[in-house]
Amino acid sequence: MERIEEQAFAKINLYLDVTGKRPDGYHDLVTVMQSVSLCDTLTLTRTAGEGFALDTGDALPADDSNLVTRAANAYFAAAGTRFGVSVRLEKHIPMQAGLGGGSADAAATLRALNTLDNNRFTQEQLCEIGARIGADVPFCVVGGTRLCRGIGERMEHAENNLGATLVLAIGAEGVSTPQAFRALDARYGDFREGRDEPSLDALLCAMRAGDAKAAAPHFQNLFETVIEPLRPAVVRWKELLRANGALAAMMSGSGPAVWGLFADRAAAEDAAQVLRASGADAYVCAWQA
Ligand code: C5P
Repeated sequence: MERIEEQAFAKINLYLDVTGKRPDGYHDLVTVMQSVSLCDTLTLTRTAGEGFALDTGDALPADDSNLVTRAANAYFAAAGTRFGVSVRLEKHIPMQAGLGGGSADAAATLRALNTLDNNRFTQEQLCEIGARIGADVPFCVVGGTRLCRGIGERMEHAENNLGATLVLAIGAEGVSTPQAFRALDARYGDFREGRDEPSLDALLCAMRAGDAKAAAPHFQNLFETVIEPLRPAVVRWKELLRANGALAAMMSGSGPAVWGLFADRAAAEDAAQVLRASGADAYVCAWQA
């Protein structure tokens, strides 16, 4: 195969708790991650020689800071060999929003390179390579619904039968993930208090049963406590989503993107219109298996 198109799906967090800080500065999490249909598109073409070229259409820097480039470097380092490839990245996922766009791009790069390379690596091996690039990359390699622990690399299958349509609200100034973790450190110290795992069990059970009403009180994200005072739009969007029919609304990851859950598509489209009228960007999307 010489040319491949790969979709890089955004993720949202349906549950996110921080349970401790590691000596290396990273944090232990318990999080339910869910892929959604909003995506970037990568087109990879095999080229002669061993060169690597990335075209982002000026949407973002195409240098070594780009996670696509870092993923390609990690892939070829693990393979111990190289082949020439050019990548075109079409960006749709907002950046610094808590939607894992960069991680999704890195994961899609790994998957596509592996396909061009006749599946040299198993999915598990691709996850191991991904973990060297970023904490959310292993999840993005696999996608769907996963309960993740550790820094996000210990994944278990979770079932999501909530038959809902999502609205994503975005548009406030981006949040830097390391800064958001530092704000949590300042507030929670060693994270020994405030954990609510029974809520996780109730959430997983309601998700499996497809019962959005039962799930609603159990969605939670510890980052909201430190980001909402810095990004008042998060609170406003949640209120707007709920006032316009959302069964639940919560910030994703370290924010500021907010998701709302709707029973049907018409209600979601109406709420998205209200959000746009208030100055936010709003995307209607679905769960991505
Ligand atoms: O792994 P990634 O590069 O996506 O993480 C960005 C930053 O977020 C890390 O440098 C670290 O400061 C913080 N982080 C963390 N604990 C995690 C994931 C990320 O402290 N589990």
